[in-house]
Amino acid sequence: MLTIGILGCGRIGQVHAASLTQISGARVGAVADPVAAAAQALSDKTGAPVMTGEALIDSLKIDAVVIGTPTDAHYDLIQKAAKAGKAIFCEKPVDMSVKRIRACQSVVEQAGISFFTAFNRRFDPNFAAVQSRVAAGEIGNVELLTILSRDPSPPPLSYIRSSGGIFRDMMIHDLDLSRFLLGEDPVLVMATGSCLVDPEIGAAGDVDTAAVMLQTASGKICQISNSRRATYGYDQRIEVHGEKGMLRADNMLESSVEVATASGFRRAPAQHFFLERYADAYRLEMVHFIDAVKAGVQPSPNVEDGLKAQILADAAARALETGQPQHV
Ligand SMILES: NC(=O)c1ccc[n+]([C@@H]2O[C@H](COP(=O)([O-])OP(=O)(O)OC[C@H]3O[C@@H](n4cnc5c(N)ncnc54)[C@H](O)[C@@H]3O)[C@@H](O)[C@H]2O)c1
Repeated sequence: MLTIGILGCGRIGQVHAASLTQISGARVGAVADPVAAAAQALSDKTGAPVMTGEALIDSLKIDAVVIGTPTDAHYDLIQKAAKAGKAIFCEKPVDMSVKRIRACQSVVEQAGISFFTAFNRRFDPNFAAVQSRVAAGEIGNVELLTILSRDPSPPPLSYIRSSGGIFRDMMIHDLDLSRFLLGEDPVLVMATGSCLVDPEIGAAGDVDTAAVMLQTASGKICQISNSRRATYGYDQRIEVHGEKGMLRADNMLESSVEVATASGFRRAPAQHFFLERYADAYRLEMVHFIDAVKAGVQPSPNVEDGLKAQILADAAARALETGQPQHV
């Protein structure tokens, strides 16, 4: 039985704790959050005791930790948990700074612990099936990848201000998916962005509409389209085009019921947001983490993948600022 401590009992901490209650061979051993009510609420749901973060990390009863705190708290917790020899499941992004992620990588390597970067979209059953069919050669050599990722509505401005910007907060998922689906690292990054959804987002120094083009050393091209608005639900689609054909995964809708009348065909909106759309992915990424820790192997994606996605996000932000393509 793997005993896991939850650091951060907010939105995502609750998702991971709920996954653990459904997975055999692992359990929530303790929860920690400086907001006492948040910790108590998750303790009530899981039956696990509330501890301080330090006590949880130092507890000999805890084998692994889930870091689900705001991103600016990840670094310190990674350092402490790695030094205490705990396996780490860390929410994305690992940190906002490439330099600090490299420091995390070295402490993780020195400690010889398992480290998982929670890029959950790799575990979406449809996206994972596209990746494995591409890797099996079903459409031959990949030439073009298109990733569409649009939120139903913008987050609160307070979130935008501390988010690190659309590339590091939101597109980071798509940048990781590009590496996963292309099977190669992009070496060239071009970006454009606008503020079309809410002028306050622009006033906070960010954009709400962005497009990025990536190219790998062998010439494969990826286009990513992001928006903080989609009137029809959480828009999450991928399409891989190759020499022998095309593989794609469409949106998951709220229902599969369709009505057809003389005025046309009508279907339900896309599932509302990430909690619904990626419910399976959140559970499956946790299963992968637990299996890897038990087997004593590195989970995937790991700290190196977190670093590479951050390098791409930084390059996209620089490309937007300078108007110049960036070589990475
Ligand atoms: N993979 C995904 O789909 C996904 C979705 C949402 C959020 N996230 C990531 O998860 C992280 C948390 O986001 P959220 O939306 O759950 O935030 P949140 O604000 O809802 O929850 C964070 C919680 O962490 C607590 N906290 C702060 N400092 C702490 C510390 N030192 N120790 C323990 N707890 C602490 C806060 O009090 C809060 O309750 C972020 O890094 C975010 O980027 C990932």
